[in-house]
Amino acid sequence: MKLRSLLFVPGDSDRKFAKGRMAGADVLILDLEDAVAPSMKAAAREQVSAWLGDADNIEASLFVRVNPLDTGMTQGDLAVVVRPGLAGILVPKANGAHDIATIADMIDPLEEAAGMMPGAVKIMVVATETPQAMFALGSYTPPHPRLVGLTWGAEDLGAAIGATANKEADGQWTEPYRFARSLCLFAAASAGVVPVDTLYADFRDANGLEADCRRARRDGFVGRIAIHPDQVATINRCFSPSEDEIAQARKIVDAFAANPDAGTLGIDGKMYDIPHLKSAQKTLAAAGETA
Ligand code: COA
Ligand code: MG
Repeated sequence: MKLRSLLFVPGDSDRKFAKGRMAGADVLILDLEDAVAPSMKAAAREQVSAWLGDADNIEASLFVRVNPLDTGMTQGDLAVVVRPGLAGILVPKANGAHDIATIADMIDPLEEAAGMMPGAVKIMVVATETPQAMFALGSYTPPHPRLVGLTWGAEDLGAAIGATANKEADGQWTEPYRFARSLCLFAAASAGVVPVDTLYADFRDANGLEADCRRARRDGFVGRIAIHPDQVATINRCFSPSEDEIAQARKIVDAFAANPDAGTLGIDGKMYDIPHLKSAQKTLAAAGETA
C-alpha cells in the first residue's frame, strides 16, 4: 500500500468525495472527526459507509478517520465503517500504543463479522495531538501488527498547550512543532512504519507546499497529508524519487552487489558504506524497483 499522498475528504460531502476520488491521491481519508459538524456526524457515518461500498471502482486506498476514544463515538464509527472496501483507520488524538491496542480490539470482531481477512484493516496514527502523546512516541515500538504509519498534527497540540501561533513569520514551524515533527519521524523509523508529514494549510500556495515537501522528504518523510485536491500532484511529485536519484541509488546498490565482502566503497571519489546502501535500497523501493 502506498502512503505518499493522503487526501482528506470530509465525510458529509458527496461533492468533495466525487472530486477527491479523481484527484490521484494514493489514499483518501474519509473524515468523521473534525471536518464534520456534530449535527452531521450520524449522516456522515452512513455516507462514508456507502462510499466504501464503491471501493472497487476507486484507485485510491480508502481510510476512515474515526472520532477519538474520549468522545465515546469510536466504537459506533467502527461498527459502521469496518466493511469490505476499508483499507485502514486513521486514529486521531491517540495518547500512545495502548489506544491503538484498544481500537484494534474493537476492529477484530467487526472485521470477522464483515467476512474480512483478519488484520486486513490497517491503522495509521496522528501521534502528536495531545501533550501526553508527546511522552508516548516510543510506545509504538514494537509496532502493533496493524500499524502502517505515523503522522503528526500541530493544530490540536497548539490548542492543548495554549499556544497563540505555530508558525514563525517566515512560515517555519515554531519550536514545539519542530520537536513534534522530529519525534514523529524518529518514532516511525524506530517502529519501522511510514512517516507521513502533516498538512500544509495554505492550500493556494503551491510554491510554499513544494518547498515544504522537499524539506520533508530530505528529512525522511515518505508522504504527506493533503487537504485540497490541488495539493496532490505536488505531493506525489515531491515524494517520488527523481531520475537522478534513482540512477545514483542503482549505482550504489550495484557497486555493493559486485563487491559482496566490502563494507565500504569509493564511488566517483566519494565514500559509501552500509547506511548509504540502505538509503539507496529505500530509494529504489520508493520508485517501485527492487534492489
Ligand atoms: N476533497 C475533495 N474535494 C475537495 C476538497 C477535498 N479535501 N477540498 C476542496 N474540494 C473541491 C471543492 O468541493 C470544489 O469542488 P466543486 O468545484 O465541485 O465545488 C473544488 O475542490 C475547489 O475547491 P475550492 O473552492 O478551492 O475550496 P473550498 O473553499 O470549496 O474548500 C476547504 C476549502 C478547506 C473547506 C476544503 O478544501 C476542505 O474541506 N478540505 C478538507 C478539510 C478536512 O478534511 N480537514 C480535516 C483534516 S485537517
Ligand atoms: Mg484535528
